[in-house]
Amino acid sequence: MDKVRIGLVGLGFMGSTHFRVYRDFVPNAQVVAVADVDPVKRTGDISSVKGNIGNDDNSIPLDFTGIKVYSNGFDMIKDADIDMVDICVPTPYHKDLIVAALAAGKYVQSEKPLCRNLEQAEEIKKAVEGSDKFFNVDMCVRAWPAYRHALVNYQAGKYGKMRAANFHRLSPCVDDGHWQDWFSYGELAGGALLDMHLHDTDFIATMFGNPKAVTANGIDGFVSKSGIDHVITIYHYDDGALVSAEGTWGAPATAPFEMTFQIYCEKATLRLTPTDYTIYWTDGTVEKPELDDKELPTGWHHQFKYFVDCVKNGVKPDKYQTFQSVYDAFKVIMAEQESIDKKQTIEIKY
Ligand SMILES: NC(=O)c1ccc[n+]([C@@H]2O[C@H](COP(=O)([O-])OP(=O)(O)OC[C@H]3O[C@@H](n4cnc5c(N)ncnc54)[C@H](O)[C@@H]3O)[C@@H](O)[C@H]2O)c1
Repeated sequence: MDKVRIGLVGLGFMGSTHFRVYRDFVPNAQVVAVADVDPVKRTGDISSVKGNIGNDDNSIPLDFTGIKVYSNGFDMIKDADIDMVDICVPTPYHKDLIVAALAAGKYVQSEKPLCRNLEQAEEIKKAVEGSDKFFNVDMCVRAWPAYRHALVNYQAGKYGKMRAANFHRLSPCVDDGHWQDWFSYGELAGGALLDMHLHDTDFIATMFGNPKAVTANGIDGFVSKSGIDHVITIYHYDDGALVSAEGTWGAPATAPFEMTFQIYCEKATLRLTPTDYTIYWTDGTVEKPELDDKELPTGWHHQFKYFVDCVKNGVKPDKYQTFQSVYDAFKVIMAEQESIDKKQTIEIKY
């Protein structure tokens, strides 16, 4: 394989982000086909696209010269000239495209969340287990520079035992008239719980191990039409560590997106603010790790380059995720929804 030939389905916020990352940062990637139900986006005009993070200028059209353009993702999947399918459509449509692309013998990357519910997750699990092709879910926070730095060094034992940790993910409102409408319906997007807060749930399970239970509280439909718009969860661990996360898209559209954490360990406290990442060692040292990387600035860049290089070289990817780890974290977020609905702590079986 010279370059990995990619077919990208969904040209919204994430699809346009993926397109630009492959084009500008991943030399082994070549987008050879795109698909979208929206005829305007199929021309490359993405001026209607809105997102909550990143500074891309969507008034600049994407150039699809030499790229096949499909109106239907399932037709694109059948294209023999495609090695890898990248799925960036709304959440409820992930499952059918993942299953079809794996069945067609393609390598697959899909946006998060894995899917909309546990039944769909089970179908995806069977498809992944029945395929010899690699599968990646864009759990980009696992690869986001400060998060990755914290995780790798914590797991190497540098900070000692974790005693407490809290994570926050705060986004401007999705119902300001600019976002795509599907985000506002809980049955489609799963609210801020599944669309945003999942990143922290997934990261907590990846960094500290799967929690044995969750206690979550959420507000349903205070800015959207339905779905959990604001959630606070406590993750229960046997050693009594106090781990919590808050996720919301309840802020006005003028409020900037923010993702932050504080992790308190025996030997150091790690703090990510909107502007700084600092490690406060208990011996008094203050460390500011240098994480700027122009070659691969975000978790999207790190992860996509790694996955594409694995596909090109035939090396099974395991640096950022196993399917089991993504699946387990999905069970945790579904347990959070159950905890909110039933107003009780939910034990999780893995
Ligand atoms: N990893 C991240 O950081 C991150 C960030 C934002 C969104 N997401 C996820 O990415 C996915 C897409 O979100 P988005 O913000 O790009 O949404 P979006 O609404 O901006 O874009 C979705 C695109 O898919 C197209 N589409 C809809 N149905 C389709 C179909 N059946 N076939 C082909 N195209 C179809 C739409 O026309 C649109 O262009 C969601 O699952 C979301 O949760 C992930």
